[in-house]
Amino acid sequence: MIVCVCNALPESRCRETACRAECRTVGCVYRLQGARIRCGRCLPHMHALLEEVRAAATAAGCAEPPVSSAPSG
Ligand code: FES
Repeated sequence: MIVCVCNALPESRCRETACRAECRTVGCVYRLQGARIRCGRCLPHMHALLEEVRAAATAAGCAEPPVSSAPSG
């Protein structure tokens, strides 16, 4: 199934990308595939997909992707 029609991104590829440690945001799902958000109609589905992948990783006992911390001071 195609998640993003504008970029022709299939769900399977989006899931693989969302599993990558460097994929921290919905925007990353696009960028890591060489795509960018255009019309935005796919955003709700992409958000749900990313949350689903993260929930599955947490349930499986996988480590959460590292969260970058802003430098303090
Ligand atoms: S359907 Fe994804 S940006 Fe348009």
